Amino acid sequence: MFIVIEGLDGSGKSTQIDMLRDRLQGRGEACYLTAEPTELPTGRFLRSILQQEVRADPRTVAALFAADRIEHLFHPEEGLLQKLAEGYHVIASRYYFSSLAYQSDDTDPGWIASLNLLAKRTLPADLTIFLDLAPSVSLERIAARGAARELFETQEKLSHVRENFYLAFEHFGEGENIHIIDAAADPVTVSDAIWEVVEDFLAGA
Ligand code: TYD
Repeated sequence: MFIVIEGLDGSGKSTQIDMLRDRLQGRGEACYLTAEPTELPTGRFLRSILQQEVRADPRTVAALFAADRIEHLFHPEEGLLQKLAEGYHVIASRYYFSSLAYQSDDTDPGWIASLNLLAKRTLPADLTIFLDLAPSVSLERIAARGAARELFETQEKLSHVRENFYLAFEHFGEGENIHIIDAAADPVTVSDAIWEVVEDFLAGA
């Protein structure tokens, strides 16, 4: 099973991914956790752009995220396909819907979609879970972390990103299993809602 967790910055993806792994492992299922941007060279370069150490044209950023995703898919040891072939359930923080959500303000969404078709055709997620949160709450949570703000962490940007996620699910989500979950609730309530979706999927698989 390949599960993607999407959401705004600060929507609780990491916490929820850890809780989901614990629940799956509790049932004796082997899990592999992964994220985009990756820890591979492409992903590290993206981090330096996000931290505003390096500047790049928004179209370059869109192309780099797509390139990092290709590495993520096909890397011979750590790739998504490899880990699924080894028998793990793979849980990823972010996948191609993030590119449509974050990059399409500055870059033609049709072009971003075409850059990501390879990933969608090769490995669409079995389940995509969108942790939905108001941008103001997302920013409060980011501020509480105390780390420096990254490139996209402004209220205006995150409002667009949230709208773009909905558009991306509508226009690029064909044939996919997408669930929207309210991420404003406490972590256990959110985790229970995610677990319900995952259990249903496992029961039908
Ligand atoms: P992430 O590490 O998930 O940040 P957070 O834990 O704060 O949610 O992602 C880092 C940033 O990368 C985040 O602002 C979203 C952005 N991003 C894109 O702009 N496009 C993409 O395709 C991906 C995967 C991430």
